[in-house]
Amino acid sequence: MTENCPDNRPVGVFDSGLGGLTAIRSLLRILPEEDLIYFGDTARVPYGNRAPETILQYARQDVRFLRSFRLKAIVIACGTISTTSLDTLQAENPDLPFVGVVEPACRRAAAVTKRKRVGIIATRASIRSGAYESALRRIDPEITVFGEPCPLFVPLVENGRFRPGDIVIETVAREYLAPLLQNDIDALILGCTHYPLLQEVIADICGPSVELVSAGEESAYELKRLLKARRMRGDPEHAGETRFYVSDRTEDFENTASIFLREDLRHAARRVDIEQY
Ligand code: DGL
Repeated sequence: MTENCPDNRPVGVFDSGLGGLTAIRSLLRILPEEDLIYFGDTARVPYGNRAPETILQYARQDVRFLRSFRLKAIVIACGTISTTSLDTLQAENPDLPFVGVVEPACRRAAAVTKRKRVGIIATRASIRSGAYESALRRIDPEITVFGEPCPLFVPLVENGRFRPGDIVIETVAREYLAPLLQNDIDALILGCTHYPLLQEVIADICGPSVELVSAGEESAYELKRLLKARRMRGDPEHAGETRFYVSDRTEDFENTASIFLREDLRHAARRVDIEQY
């Protein structure tokens, strides 16, 4: 496609559940002309405690569903899938560019850390994969990395327990963040895309000396760069639309999505039988 011929095909965005909405929120802001198709696998969330083979099997089905649309790119708006399955998914779908969350978040963290001490919080599968750590070391070998899995965060967020003042989420967050703060980090990668929904809670505990980096948000910037480089941007005059699909009850997803995206999304989501893909 050339600059004069906009590419109006939609972009697919997916996650195990609600987390990818953090990428959607940024995409709506920085690429308002693009049509987006979101899939959240709410019937099978969380992915983050599962074996890499299971995560890949689920991710393949998610991609097959998204590919039932004529897409121009896919954003894997999920740390767990990005850290375990991105290379395989890209190799299996060579005609479609994939954007993950790891590299963009690590580039940003490397740019903002002054003491070169970076913390990463993510799911167990992501921390076990070592993908964030290797990416950070590749970018700057002098950075010391401290990783902490936070397995209770995703179920709590999926159940709406993400607001400041909620004693359960605050207690859990304090416990997870304490070892990282003791290690004197000055940048913290929210390496699971659900975690920016906890931004206020995490920021309150970490204080102003720790810069938070949202993996979901950085992936949106990466998509923008990719579409520009490949001359695949949509028509700038077009008002992009987002379609939401989930694999379980639509109502719970719509409620949280409405709060997070500050938009009334009642009746906006459709249910998909993901096992068919
Ligand atoms: N948003 C997913 C991630 O970024 C959540 C993982 C999960 O389902 O446990 O890792």
